[in-house]
Amino acid sequence: MSRKLFTVGPVHVEDDVLRAMTRPMITHRCKEYKALHGSIVEKMRKALDTDMDIFLVGGSATVLIEGAVRNGVSSACLGLSNGSFGNRFIECGTANGKDVARVDVPWGKAIRASDIEGKVTDATEAVCWVSNESSTGVLNPSTELAEEVRRQNPDALVMVDAVTSAFAADLDLRRMRPDALMFGTQKALALPPGLAFVCVSEEMMERSAKTKGKGFYTDFVKLKKNADENYALTTPPVSLMYALDYQLDRILAEGMQARYERHAKMARMVEEWAQKRFDGLFPEEGFRSRTIGVVKRGGLDFDAFHTALKAKGYEISNGYGDIKSSTFRIGHMGDITPAALEGLIKAMDETLEEMQ
Ligand SMILES: Cc1ncc(COP(=O)(O)O)c(C=O)c1O
Repeated sequence: MSRKLFTVGPVHVEDDVLRAMTRPMITHRCKEYKALHGSIVEKMRKALDTDMDIFLVGGSATVLIEGAVRNGVSSACLGLSNGSFGNRFIECGTANGKDVARVDVPWGKAIRASDIEGKVTDATEAVCWVSNESSTGVLNPSTELAEEVRRQNPDALVMVDAVTSAFAADLDLRRMRPDALMFGTQKALALPPGLAFVCVSEEMMERSAKTKGKGFYTDFVKLKKNADENYALTTPPVSLMYALDYQLDRILAEGMQARYERHAKMARMVEEWAQKRFDGLFPEEGFRSRTIGVVKRGGLDFDAFHTALKAKGYEISNGYGDIKSSTFRIGHMGDITPAALEGLIKAMDETLEEMQ
C-alpha cells in the first residue's frame, strides 16, 4: 500500500509533480538548461518576495548550511540553539574549524532578542540560527533576531536555516534581510530530496570574496559567476529541476498568502487535536511552527501507534533528539491539504481507540 506521508521530510510528493521529472534528459550547459535554471530562480524570487541572488547545488540543505559558514566566517561566529538543528548548525561551524560561541535557549522556547543581548561582539563575523526548529516545533522570530544582531554589530552576517519554513511561513525577507538563507527540496517545496538552495546578500558575496579556505563545490563566488549566466557550477539534478519548475508554477498559482494560510490552518488543526488527545504541543504558545506539530505524547506507545497507523496507510514522524521519547511529530507541509489532514486525524483517533 502506498502511504500518505505526514512526515517532517521527505514529505508527500504529488503524482503529477513526480511525473514532471520524466522529461528527456538535457545537458547542463545547453540553452534549454539555461532557460530552465533562469525560470526556477525567477519563480523562487517571486514566491519568496526577494531580489536576492539564489544559488542551487545538488545535495541536501546541509551542504549549503556548511557552505554559508565556509564562505562567511574566517574564524569566529555565534550559533544560537534551541534544538537539534540549531546544534547541527553549530556543528557545521566547528567541523569546519571555526570558533563558534553559542547561546542555548531551553528546548520548546523561542530564541528572543533579549537572549542575545551583549553576545554579538566586534569579532562575531556571523550569527547562525534555525528559523523553524524541526526537533521542537518552534518558529523562531528571525526578523527580531536579525535586527538585534545588526544593532550590536552591523557587520555581522545573518545566516538562517529555513529548511522547514521556506515556502510555508511568510519569512518577510525584505525586513529580515538575511545574508544567507538555506533550504532544500524535500520539505515545504514538496519535491523529492536532492537540491539545496541559498539566497545570498551583497554583503555575503563581499565577505565570500575575501574568505580563504572555502573549498570548491560551494564557493559562493564561483556559484555566482555561473548563476549570473543561469548555469550551475557543477552538474545539477536536472530531472529534479524539471519537477521544481513545474511545482513553482503550482505554488504561484495557489498564491503565497493562500499557501501560508493553508499551513497556518493545518497547524491549528494539529494543535486542537493534540490538546484533545494529549497534553498539547511541546513548543511555547505564540512561536509554534506552521509545518510541524510536536505533540507531547505522555505514556503513548509510539511504536505500536505508528505501526497501526502505517497499516491504515499513514506515516508520521517520531520525536527527535533529546525529546525523542517524550514527543512525536506530525508534518503538514507542501501539498498536504486540511482535508487530507482530516483523514490522518480520523485515522489517529481510530487507532488510539483501538489501542485502549
Ligand atoms: C531545520 C532543519 N535544518 C536542517 C536539516 C537538514 O537538512 P538536509 O537533510 O536537507 O541536509 C533539517 C532536516 O530535517 C531540518 O529540519
